[in-house]
Amino acid sequence: MGFENVYNHKAAVKESANARVNLIGEHTDYTGGYVMPTLLGFKNTIELSRNKESKFEVFSEHFNEKKIFNDFIKSQSNDWSDYIKGCLFVYFDEYKKIKLEHLNVYISSSIPLERGISSSSALCVSTLKALNSYFHTQIDEKHIAILAKKVEHDYIGVSGGIMDQMVSSIGIHGKAFFLDCLNLKYELVNFPSNWKFCLIDSEVQRNLRSSSYNDRFNELKIAEKELDVEYLGGVELNKFDSDKISSPTVIKRARHVVTENNRVLKAKECLLQDDIKQFGKLMIESHNSYSKDFEASTNDVDEIVERSIQCGALGARLTGGGFGGFTVSLIEKNKFSNWYKKINQYYPAEKIFEV
Ligand code: GLA
Repeated sequence: MGFENVYNHKAAVKESANARVNLIGEHTDYTGGYVMPTLLGFKNTIELSRNKESKFEVFSEHFNEKKIFNDFIKSQSNDWSDYIKGCLFVYFDEYKKIKLEHLNVYISSSIPLERGISSSSALCVSTLKALNSYFHTQIDEKHIAILAKKVEHDYIGVSGGIMDQMVSSIGIHGKAFFLDCLNLKYELVNFPSNWKFCLIDSEVQRNLRSSSYNDRFNELKIAEKELDVEYLGGVELNKFDSDKISSPTVIKRARHVVTENNRVLKAKECLLQDDIKQFGKLMIESHNSYSKDFEASTNDVDEIVERSIQCGALGARLTGGGFGGFTVSLIEKNKFSNWYKKINQYYPAEKIFEV
């Protein structure tokens, strides 16, 4: 298709944002803890121009569909265009001095949807970046992430933290993005040259389980209340007093978060020390905790993780919000072709992606 074919003129601005894979630190972001994702090559691109007919027109290449609207009222049916409406709503609400201009929007994306690699955050971040360029508002990247989170929370209405928006807005391809989600301080850490990460698609669509994500979110909020702390992410492992929590299920959920935070800190050290074996072990521990304590995995996903390790990966785990989507494996570069040959006997090449 292309912008020009749809709108018969050239776009005024074009901005992109990438998807991410979280290497370690799951469900720790909204409890003020640590995460360490990295950007993927998959990206979402937004092109914009002025619409002279006083309406907003949005074309999605993926859905091969155009939506036209005049207001920013969210649809009843969770339509894909709600994300664009939400970005427009949040942006114009924040920058009230800007004279509202109607726009033509074109969305193209290489990101597989609903696989736990944050396609929605990349969509919001790229849209806000495009609005920022178009209206010359000079919003910095951190604030773009904050606004993108506002779109997903306040407008779309999904629970979640700020990891995806931060890495999508600020991250650099080829570097790990270590983030303290409480104060939004981050570090870009280099990967040692002999490390390689690879994704395998479980094909279980994550979105179908978004209610389970919210259940976990709420369970962690109960843990914070009963422990009488503002953020579970601030609780150190040796200060975690599970006796204060009344439900055994909530104890398990909270234990995942407290131990996971500790693993993220150790994982960052491993990157700095080039300790690939220990990093791999931490990924496996992280997956076990995510699967057993947090109960956010599925049998299919657990099987992929086990097979990947049997085939020679040093670590593997489910990445993202849980309940399906992609797994991520860590492999030594010189063992990669051997690992690939073996894993490819179980999964076709279309399901395996090199990071
Ligand atoms: C989703 C959310 C993130 C984070 C992860 C789990 O991707 O959008 O904020 O909570 O799940 O780590």
